[in-house]
Amino acid sequence: MRNGYGIACGKIILAGEHSVVYGQPAIALPFFSVHAKCFVSVSDDDDTMVSSLYSGKLDDAPAHFNGVKDVLNKLKNDLKITSNLNITIDSDVPTERGLGSSAAVSVALVRAVFEFMNQEASQDELRDYTHIAESYHHDNPSGIDSEIIIKEQTIYYIKNKSSEIMNVDVDAVLVVADTGQAASTKEAVQNVRRQYTDHAQAINDLGLLTNKAKEFINTKDIQGLGDCLYESHLKLQSIGVSSLELDKLVEAAMENGALGAKLSGGGLGGCMIALCTPDKTNDVLSSLINAGSKKTWVMSLKEEYHG
Ligand code: PMV
Repeated sequence: MRNGYGIACGKIILAGEHSVVYGQPAIALPFFSVHAKCFVSVSDDDDTMVSSLYSGKLDDAPAHFNGVKDVLNKLKNDLKITSNLNITIDSDVPTERGLGSSAAVSVALVRAVFEFMNQEASQDELRDYTHIAESYHHDNPSGIDSEIIIKEQTIYYIKNKSSEIMNVDVDAVLVVADTGQAASTKEAVQNVRRQYTDHAQAINDLGLLTNKAKEFINTKDIQGLGDCLYESHLKLQSIGVSSLELDKLVEAAMENGALGAKLSGGGLGGCMIALCTPDKTNDVLSSLINAGSKKTWVMSLKEEYHG
């Protein structure tokens, strides 16, 4: 019996979410603490899927899986797969939290279907197929989620222009905390777009902060980087994509020794990140748990640890 397996990590946007949609740069890191895995095998029945959110015929899957359905149909067509397939998705990337769940599932699915056909998807193929699914979850996606998940290296990204691999090696830690609130990236992006003229200056400033953050990473100035992150949070707040829960976690981290903290990803809920020196990790972590975080992760920014 033929099988295919694909795996993809999550992602963290360090700086530049939302402004990246308007051509400003963004920095994103692969997040290896969470993964989406996909298994593909021949189905005796129709195309079927098994996942924690839905199990059954793919045709009957809820709208959340429309992107997966479209990608699978296109893959079957392009790779000339005539048998029906069973897709099993096993992911610990929390959905709608800004950690790249939808892109990770798509990348894992494309990798699995290619492997099922004894082929390996190229980066361009991964990008093209994932874009189809991402269009359902985003309003005109910038492409940063799929790009970082495909590359699995830190990138400095400009939409439709460049994706430069960055070497991050600083003696600091990112604490990632989930508010537990699911949030729609599409809604957040549409809200910003609706009031674009009011937000044009803030969007430009977010781009400048991303460039400063890049500079501080290269010069290993972690306080400078922390300042950029917190200033970015205030700008993101001003364009209306933060939430009370996110602000509460950001302030808790700042009051307990973080060098900087901000929401990460689409916002309106989801996750935040706090930058701190390794010796402050415990203080920041416990302050986030006390302030209501539903889940936390710790990621070192030393080169040997974050991949
Ligand atoms: O998928 P999310 O929620 O991490 O958001 C991606 C980043 C945005 O800039 C908000 C959207 C985009 O297309 O770049």
